[in-house]
This record gives sequence, structure tokens and C-alpha cells, in this order.
Amino acid sequence: MNEFYNKDIISIKDFSKDQLEKIFTSTDKMIQLDSSQRREICKGKTLGYLFYEPSTRTRLSFDSAMASIGGNSLGISNISSSSTQKGESLADTVKIMSIYSDILVLRHTLDGSSRFASEISDKPVINAGSGTEEHPTQAIQDLYTIKKEKKKIDGLKIGIVGDLKYGRTVYSLLYGLGNYDVDVRLISPESLRIRSDSTYDIKKNIDFTESTKLEDHIDELDVLYVTRIQKERFPDEEEYLKVKGSYVVGQDLVNQMKDDSIILHPLPRIDEISTEVDKTKNAKYFQQAEYGKYTRATLLGLTLNENGF
Ligand code: CP
Repeated sequence: MNEFYNKDIISIKDFSKDQLEKIFTSTDKMIQLDSSQRREICKGKTLGYLFYEPSTRTRLSFDSAMASIGGNSLGISNISSSSTQKGESLADTVKIMSIYSDILVLRHTLDGSSRFASEISDKPVINAGSGTEEHPTQAIQDLYTIKKEKKKIDGLKIGIVGDLKYGRTVYSLLYGLGNYDVDVRLISPESLRIRSDSTYDIKKNIDFTESTKLEDHIDELDVLYVTRIQKERFPDEEEYLKVKGSYVVGQDLVNQMKDDSIILHPLPRIDEISTEVDKTKNAKYFQQAEYGKYTRATLLGLTLNENGF
């Protein structure tokens, strides 16, 4: 039996290096299949999504991924149009969705929400972003992008810049990178350093440095992972205004980067990467979004088929 069959995807910490590498190999296979072969993988299966927070890429890439492998999707993308408005609990909403679907994809404002949903649902649950805690399928997409674009992950110098306090993609990426031998530079305003409650877990597996100056690292990096300052998570707007626009990657910075370095971003971007950078060969964030569709199709194919695909 395929080891991912019927399993929840709640935290990237639940995946070993060997398992991540198997997912990457399966994603390569997914990309190589022709569309008629792909459409057999989840024929007749239904994905149910519940998004308590806005999303463009994650929801639509799951939707598009499921369609590409022959399944269909239904769900709630705007929670204000659901019975949650009448006071229905997350637990009951999850129970109902698990009746209508074969797999659930949940994005929620609260840390722990997907773990909670997985205890209620009798169908596998995929965490599509839980509060400031984790976004595991984004990390799988990010690691896959690094592997495809740099041909390896071990041995790379990786800079992660921006909102390291509230950015859930940062935590999942750091936990995922913990499986590899990498040199990580964390760059943020003082007030947005990674949270001390997660530092212990990250330090167990990764050597990292922390600094406020991107200029001090830019010419050494193989991968620059840029993140948005998450305005919506600041308890006080004054604090947001103090750090807004702290880092802007423009052509001047790209000129200082190694020729073969890559720039990633989980997106959405606001102003932290100038649009002039989009046309450079280093900019890989739109390619990264495309890989997200294939990594998610792979995760669905593996989770919903006893013998894989
Ligand atoms: N990267 C990401 O999670 O994007 P969305 O918020 O648009 O889903």
C-alpha cells in the first residue's frame, strides 16, 4: 500500500526526507503523464474545501489540480455565505463536508484548526493554512521548486526575508528544510523575528543566522525567499506601519545576486518585489505557483489511491 494513502496532511513536520523525496519523484511523474492518463487518477472523487480566510493560489490550485486528475471540487470559499454566519461550529461544518467529499482542504484563522478538523473528519484533511502556524502544502511546493530550479537542496545558502513572525509559510519551509543540509539566513525587522516558541524546533535541525540587513547576505545566496508583511495579523496597525516596506527587492538588489540564484515568494506580493524583477531569469515565483498545481495533484493522487498512481 502507498504510505500516503488516506493520511492527513497537517504539518510538514510529519514528513521525513525520504517521504518528501518520494513526493517529488511522484510530482515529476505527474508532470510527465499525458492529460488522459492524469484524468484517471482521481476519477469520480470529490474534494471539499473550506476557506475561512481569503485565498487565490491555494484554493484554485487545489481545484485545478483535482480537475486535472479527473475529480471534482465543491466547497465554501466565502465563509460569510455559509451557515457559519448562523452560528454553526467548525466541528459541525467539517462533519458535513466530510459527508459530501472524499478529502477535505481547510484554511482557517486559528493555529491547530486542521489538527482539530482531522480528529472530527472521517476523510483525510489537508491543512491549507492554519493561523500563523503552518502551510505544509506550500512548503512541499517550495521545496520542489528549489529542487527543480537548483537541481538540489543540500548545500544551498537560503535567505528568508520579510515577516518571519506571522508568515506561516516560513515555519513550514523551515521545518521542511530541517531535513536537508542547508545554510539559512533569516532576515527581518527586529519586531518580526521568528517566534521564540518555534525557535527550539527549528534549531534542532537547521543552522541559521538572524539579521536585519538583506544587503549583508544578498551576494552569497542561492535562494532568496521573500515574504509579504502580513498586515492582517498585526494586533496594532501602528506596529505594521513601522515595518511596512522594510524590504523591497528591485533590480539593484538582483544585480548583486549570484547569476544562478533564484528568487521565490509564496505570493501574494504587495510591494516587496518590484515588478521590474519579474522579467529577470532569477525570478521563479510564478513558476513556483505553477509547481503548486502539480505538487497538489500529486498529494491528492497519493492520498486518494491505495496503490498510488
Ligand atoms: N501562497 C498562498 O497561500 O496564496 P493564497 O493565499 O492566495 O492561497
